[in-house]
Amino acid sequence: MPEISSPGAGLSIGVGPTGAPTGAPGRGRPSRMRIDRLGTMWMIIAVLMAVVTLFLHRHMPQPLWTMIHLVTLGVLSNGIFQWSWFFARSLARLAADDRRAHSDNLRRMLGFNACFALLFMSMWLGWFIGTVVAATGIAAIAAWHGAAMLSVLRERLASRFVIVVRYYVCAAAFFVLTALLAGFVTTTMFSSSIPEAFLAMRDRLTFAHALSGVGGWLGLSIGGTAITLGPTILRTRMSPDAVSWGIKVLPPWCVSLLIAVSGALLGVMPLVGAGILGAAACAIMGILIPYTRVLAAKKPQEYSAWSFLIGLGWIALGILFLGIMALFVSTPSQIRVLTMMWLPIIGAGGFTQLFVGALSYLMPVVIGGGPSVVRIGIAILDWQFALRVSLRNGALFLQVVLFCAAASTAVTTLRYALWLVVIMTFAIDIVMFARAGKNQARARLERIKEMSESRQAQ
Ligand code: HEM
Repeated sequence: MPEISSPGAGLSIGVGPTGAPTGAPGRGRPSRMRIDRLGTMWMIIAVLMAVVTLFLHRHMPQPLWTMIHLVTLGVLSNGIFQWSWFFARSLARLAADDRRAHSDNLRRMLGFNACFALLFMSMWLGWFIGTVVAATGIAAIAAWHGAAMLSVLRERLASRFVIVVRYYVCAAAFFVLTALLAGFVTTTMFSSSIPEAFLAMRDRLTFAHALSGVGGWLGLSIGGTAITLGPTILRTRMSPDAVSWGIKVLPPWCVSLLIAVSGALLGVMPLVGAGILGAAACAIMGILIPYTRVLAAKKPQEYSAWSFLIGLGWIALGILFLGIMALFVSTPSQIRVLTMMWLPIIGAGGFTQLFVGALSYLMPVVIGGGPSVVRIGIAILDWQFALRVSLRNGALFLQVVLFCAAASTAVTTLRYALWLVVIMTFAIDIVMFARAGKNQARARLERIKEMSESRQAQ
């Protein structure tokens, strides 16, 4: 188990034996959890909206866009801004009063959420200028995030694991590209005065945008985090060469993604397929192979580890499917149709489940309070976890099986019921996060009180 800061120990972000950060900074109320509430708020909105979209999608503006971006921008991007920065500042050992340590990131997150709210409103109203302003704002914030990560890489007192922050720098660069491409996509959707040739680019631009966002922003952020966090979640040490392999595969990983994005823009599908499979090969060599060694030594035992690993598994399946399909279709429009049915499954089973797993590990550690107090949070998050994991993944697996079934009312009803099961498991996660956070924070305060009383008594 990684070291966990004791209450009252002052600034105690540490770097554990696997390079992942440990401990809660500051005394008293953990102020960082306040930013965490932005992510929680989007999680609640996403769960509620998923139910509304399931039943009312025909009466909603942009139902698919809404669900995709509530998850990718609302839940996951907020999570990445918050946690990748938390990792980076811990690895760089930034002092608590360093302006970059907290307030800059808070500003970025508030700015990002304001832009996302504007984007949301503009997409629903079909307001072209609003979408372009929001996309440009998000690109600027992503660039700022990347520059902050770069500055962290130069810290002299940093841990040797700080090198994985390079992943976050590259991820931020892909986020800038994603947002810029998105600006062009919305131009093809909403602007009335654009040339035919540009209009005809819509599918290519959208596919390139999605590849850059999912593969670059999400994929590289997850890759960089997984190198150190994965073994920590399994409560074991990483394999000795994990970081050096992770760093070696980063340049070819980025080049492969750029090849895939360029292939999508040019409409050359073999290039897309080669790029995606190249990125998959890098992820296998840099992340999955070191993991299998760790897994051979230690099996997952908690909800966090199971969710994280199964999430990685769904993402791996999704990447392989997309890479192989890209080699068999001739246009981005065809692959967009094919990916439409997989997107919700990979979104829920892959990215969201992995995020929930990571958060289930991080939240108790960050609230802190010493091993016995941390165990209070973990025990709540682990409630009936075998059943929750089985229900969620069983329902998603059945969704995949139903791809082979002929369309009928019974199949549609079953699909709806299975989605409700998946949504319910995420709703339970949110309730557990709230309960664990509240109970652990209370136990932490009680422990601080006890300690100060015993000190006074001496
Ligand atoms: C800068 C903010 C963003 C804006 C303005 C934006 C905008 C858009 C637009 C307009 C579409 C096309 C919708 C349609 O054709 O009906 C789209 C599709 C999509 N976006 Fe984004 N997006 C943004 C960020 C992201 C991010 C960060 C990701 C992933 C991490 C992402 C993933 C996707 C996906 C998967 C699709 C569906 C692609 C398809 O239909 O084939 N987007 N986005």
